[in-house]
Amino acid sequence: MNETIFGQVDDYINNLFSPADEALQHAVSSIASSGIPQISVSAGQGKLLHILAKLSGARKILEIGTLGGYSTIWLARALPAGGKLLTLELDPAHAAVAQKNINYAGLDGKVEIRTGNALETLPLLEKENAGPFDLIFIDADKEPYATYLEWALKLSRPGTVIIADNVIREGKVLEEHPADPLVEGVSRFNKALAANTTLTGTIIQTVGEKNHDGIAIAIVN
Ligand code: SAH
Ligand code: DHB
Ligand code: MG
Repeated sequence: MNETIFGQVDDYINNLFSPADEALQHAVSSIASSGIPQISVSAGQGKLLHILAKLSGARKILEIGTLGGYSTIWLARALPAGGKLLTLELDPAHAAVAQKNINYAGLDGKVEIRTGNALETLPLLEKENAGPFDLIFIDADKEPYATYLEWALKLSRPGTVIIADNVIREGKVLEEHPADPLVEGVSRFNKALAANTTLTGTIIQTVGEKNHDGIAIAIVN
């Protein structure tokens, strides 16, 4: 693999189609300077999320794993007037950085951050009848990805788009019995997604800025 050319082509695509405006640049710099992990989706992946939200006409979006709100901004910007995005984040320090970035982007009226373990907040959402969501983006801890898929289905309707980040992990999902629990988690997710007859899904393999990985995209039948 020629990683240099993949990185250069990623820059080329991002310069053409995802140039950072002030709010996105502010989010990127605040994430870099606040010491939280720099594992946001790339600019090109953010644009893809934005397009998928527009394509699906999403008015209600659920995100699992906020970090500094970078993907949140791309998704929330696709919402029509009156649209809402709910994003779940375990770490209060990440949620605080995200809230500032969302405010800076002028999206505080559309976005709500729920701090807590998504494995606990997702059942609460079901109890509150918070669904169905039109688009659900899974991007939190990898071990429970298959459980997040089950919750996503409970909070969905026919036509809901379900997207999950980091499902290829540099090809480690090819291992039959992955020793790494993160890889095992996404591998189990991929099998569950493929086997579920209420979902039509696929995975797009990605290279470039964020190394070799993949994004799963599915629609509820
Ligand atoms: N979607 C973000 C990146 C998310 S990184 C973006 O692309 O901009 C993963 C995030 O999930 C981290 O902030 C981490 O703290 C959070 N997380 C990890 N385990 C979690 C859990 N059980 N519940 C909710 N959030 C969790
Ligand atoms: C990593 C990347 C991600 O996009 C993520 O959500 C979690 C971890 C990583 O590269 O380790
Ligand atoms: Mg990710």
